[in-house]
Amino acid sequence: MAVNQPSALTREEALKIVDELVRTPNIKKHLLAVEAFMRRLARHFGQDEDEWGLTGLLHDADYEVPEKDLDRHTEITAERLRQYVGTERIISAILAHNHKAPMDTTMAKALYACDNLTGLIVACALVHPDKKLEPLTVDFVLRRFKEKSFARGASREEILTCEPNLGIPLPEFIGLGLEAMKGIAADLEL
Ligand SMILES: [Fe+2]
Repeated sequence: MAVNQPSALTREEALKIVDELVRTPNIKKHLLAVEAFMRRLARHFGQDEDEWGLTGLLHDADYEVPEKDLDRHTEITAERLRQYVGTERIISAILAHNHKAPMDTTMAKALYACDNLTGLIVACALVHPDKKLEPLTVDFVLRRFKEKSFARGASREEILTCEPNLGIPLPEFIGLGLEAMKGIAADLEL
């Protein structure tokens, strides 16, 4: 009798986890943005778009759960994901973005670099006269990137790891992020 056979993680299952743990619409949008960016980066590297997308979609799923113990962030998601088969790399990358595992795969390095850029791009859209992603150019984002006082929460240092860790120059990295996020502009309501 087969009882509780571990199953593979599908996007539907991942969305169930997200909807169960995430309370704030902006965090869900952030997860969707990083999912799209990760899928684009997987394509860039000829890697598994589904696996990279799931990593992006779930990376901050538990962000609001450990109210009193932020240190538990990513560990709660990791526990949930251990119930599925074949999620080791995803778990490791998610833990690594919160400095809880070594950043030893390209997927983990991609997550670390793209996470903060999505926030910077959202901030750029919001200050653009149209308040939309569509008119944003690489130059526009690059100029805001260089303004230290703009969207301070978006760590330039982490974004810039795209160059040494992924071998992607910053302008190209911004272009990939813009392309990915424009592709889901409706979901992001931007
Ligand atoms: Fe994030």
